[in-house]
Amino acid sequence: MGSRMAATSATTFSIGSTMSFSPKGSSLSQSKAFGMRLNTRSFLSFSGLKGVSSISCESESSFLGKESTAALRHSVKPKAQKQNRRSWNNLQPQASYKVAVLGAAGGIGQPLALLIKMSPLVSALHLYDIANVKGVAADLSHCNTPSQVLDFTGASELANSLKGVNVVVIPAGVARKPGMTRDDLFNINANIVKTLVEAVAENCPDAFIHIISNPINSTVPIAAEVLKQKGVYDPKKLFGVSTLDVVRANTFVAQKKNLKLIDVDVPVVGGHAGITILPLLSKTKPSASFTDEEVQELTVRIQNAGTEVVEAKAGAGSATLSMAYAAARFVESSLRALDGDSDVYECCYIQSELTELPFFASRVKIGRKGVEAVISSDLQGLTEYEEKALEALKPELKASIEKGISFVHKQPVAA
Ligand SMILES: NC(=O)c1ccc[n+]([C@@H]2O[C@H](COP(=O)([O-])OP(=O)(O)OC[C@H]3O[C@@H](n4cnc5c(N)ncnc54)[C@H](O)[C@@H]3O)[C@@H](O)[C@H]2O)c1
Repeated sequence: MGSRMAATSATTFSIGSTMSFSPKGSSLSQSKAFGMRLNTRSFLSFSGLKGVSSISCESESSFLGKESTAALRHSVKPKAQKQNRRSWNNLQPQASYKVAVLGAAGGIGQPLALLIKMSPLVSALHLYDIANVKGVAADLSHCNTPSQVLDFTGASELANSLKGVNVVVIPAGVARKPGMTRDDLFNINANIVKTLVEAVAENCPDAFIHIISNPINSTVPIAAEVLKQKGVYDPKKLFGVSTLDVVRANTFVAQKKNLKLIDVDVPVVGGHAGITILPLLSKTKPSASFTDEEVQELTVRIQNAGTEVVEAKAGAGSATLSMAYAAARFVESSLRALDGDSDVYECCYIQSELTELPFFASRVKIGRKGVEAVISSDLQGLTEYEEKALEALKPELKASIEKGISFVHKQPVAA
C-alpha cells in the first residue's frame, strides 16, 4: 500500500497494487488490475479532509476492486452533499457487509483489521480475540472510514461476534516458536480452529469462512469436518487463504524478469506449506520464459519465503504484514463476489476434485454463493518440472489432510 499525503490541502491517496484474474479475452490467465486513486482536495474519506471536491478512479492499483470503488464514490458523495460529518450512518456505502476477524489482536489480525477497515464494502467490522482486542478496536474506530468497529473479548462474546456476519476470517492461533515441534503447533491451532468453526456453524453458517491459521493444509479439512458434523457444511464457502503464495510469486517473478508488477499473474496450486506450494511459472502472465535454473530458484524461494521473513525478523515473529495484505485482498475479492461482481478469480485451498486429493489449492471463480468454478486448465500442459513437482507434493498434502480429518474424528464436536 502506498499513500502520499501532501502538506497542502490537495491530497492524493493511492492504495496498493495487485490484480485480479479475468476470464475475458483470449486467455484464462489474462490478468486485470482494478483499483483506484483518489485525488482529494477536501472530501471526507481516508484522507480525513472535509467536503468533496474531486474523486477520480483509475484501474491501476489496489485489492479494492471496481465495485468497491463505485461503492466508495457512492458513500462519499451523498455524505458531502448533506454536509454532515458527525454521523457515521451517512457514510454507509450502497453495498455493505459484515466481516468478523477472529484473532484480531494478533500480528496478522491487527494490520488485517486496518486494511478491512479501509474497504468501502464493509459496514461492520467485528474484532474477536481472547485478549487485548478492546484497544485495537478503539484505535481503529477513529479512522474515518464507513465501517463501524465492534470488539468482542473471550469465549463468552464469541457467539455475538458472529451474528449476521457475511465473511469470517480466522488468523487466530500461535505462530511457531523456538522449541516448539510441528506437532505442538498442530495440536494448539487445530483445537483453536475447531472451537472457532463450531461457533461459526452455530451463529453464521452461511458465511464465507477464510482460514489463515496454520497449517492450513490440515486446518481447512478440520473446519470441513466440524461443519459436516454440525450439518452445515457448504464446501463452496470454506477457503484456505493461500493468497500470500500468489502475492509472493507475482512479486518475485516481476523482480526477476523485470516486469511491471501490476501485470504479473502466477497461479499457485497444491497446498500451503513447503513443497506442497507449487507455483506454475509456465502459466505466468504476461508470458515469460525461464531457464531451468530460474525455475528452480524461483520455486524454492516462493516455497520458503516464510522462512526468509522469520530469519529477517530474527526471533520477533513471522510474516504478518504481507499476510495481512494478502488476506485483505482475499476478503475484498469475496466481498466483490458477494456484491455481484462476476469477474472474481483467486487461488485458494478448497475441497476439490481437480486431483485425487480431497483438498487442493487452485484458481477458482468466486460468486455470490462461493466457489462457482474451478479453473482446471491451469493444470493442463504443465512442464516436466511442474508435473514432477505436482506428483511429489501429493503424498505430503494427503498426509496433512488425513491428519486434520482424523483429529476431528478422535474428538467429535458437540451436536
Ligand atoms: N496462511 C498463511 O499464509 C499464514 C501466514 C503467516 C502466518 N499464518 C498463521 O496465522 C496464525 C496467526 O499468526 P500471527 O503471527 O498473527 O500470530 P500472533 O500470535 O501474533 O496472533 C495470534 C492471535 O490469535 C489469538 N488467539 C489465540 N487463541 C485464540 C482463540 N482461541 N480465539 C481467538 N483468538 C485466539 C491470540 O490472542 C493472538 O492475538 C498462525 O497460525 C500462523 O502460523 C498463516
